[in-house]
Amino acid sequence: MNTAVTNNSSNAPTVVDIRKLWTVFKNADGEQVVHRDLNMHIDRGEVLSLVGGSGTGKTVLLRQILGLEKPTQGVVEVLGQQPGELSASGAANVGMLFQHGALFSAFSVLENIAFPLRELKLLPDELIRHAALVKLQMVGLEPQHANKSPSDLSGGMIKRVALARALIMDPPLLLLDEPTAGLDPEASDSFCNLLRGLHRELGLTVVMVTHDLDTLFDLSTRIAVLADQKVIVSGTAREVIAYPHPFIHEYFLGGRGQRALEALHDKPATEQHAPRPEAAPR
Ligand SMILES: Nc1ncnc2c1ncn2[C@@H]1O[C@H](COP(=O)(O)OP(=O)(O)O)[C@@H](O)[C@H]1O
Ligand SMILES: [Mg+2]
Repeated sequence: MNTAVTNNSSNAPTVVDIRKLWTVFKNADGEQVVHRDLNMHIDRGEVLSLVGGSGTGKTVLLRQILGLEKPTQGVVEVLGQQPGELSASGAANVGMLFQHGALFSAFSVLENIAFPLRELKLLPDELIRHAALVKLQMVGLEPQHANKSPSDLSGGMIKRVALARALIMDPPLLLLDEPTAGLDPEASDSFCNLLRGLHRELGLTVVMVTHDLDTLFDLSTRIAVLADQKVIVSGTAREVIAYPHPFIHEYFLGGRGQRALEALHDKPATEQHAPRPEAAPR
């Protein structure tokens, strides 16, 4: 049953369009269907948060948007292109902060940030160094950290360096896989503030996977719920919570969810998108 109202009245250009996506993995027990006829549409400027149980295919979906994995069937388009055909320009369209934010331990902070640009071999070293220093500053780190090794950094600083690396090519689309996981509440708040500022200043479109309800309510302009191998509903927090599904009930209305919701009820409703069931592609 789907009681949500379809609303495709937004005039913003489409950044991500996923239509009739199937992802099937073959394993020892046979086939595992991770995505079954999944549709998802993301407009420019949105911060879309994906929530879903563990193993529901959130990371796989981000990797497909990035072009690292191909769908079994269906279409994934980023800015009108299929990211599977990874050209240099395609790679520059999407930056990703990976779940475990892995930095190269043998590289300095600056070398880590510069890495994607250096790989392209298009710019002289001095310009690459300058671009990496600009990104270091953009994520709120002082230039004196440039030559440090990742092992000398705190968890929050590692996330910032990984974010600077994701932004080195100035991508219009940023993917964040559990950006605040493993951070203490203070580092998590501070990272959320940074992300909010960058979203506004750079006009980014963001797709974020998060389990953290504070991060979810803090940053999202829309929430999409992945369950039953597809996006079952998307909309504001209030709208998604009103959608009857056992996962939503458990996730948002458990103890943790209740506390976050109470905090949300104290805030005025912001102007957001109406709920979208992500039904048939247009
Ligand atoms: N390359 C792969 N080969 C086989 N199975 C995979 C592969 N990548 C992911 N999976 C499986 O797909 C499911 C979804 O994975 P993932 O997207 O990582 O989940 P999550 O929603 O927790 O991020 C999991 O059951 C995982 O084991
Ligand atoms: Mg994951």
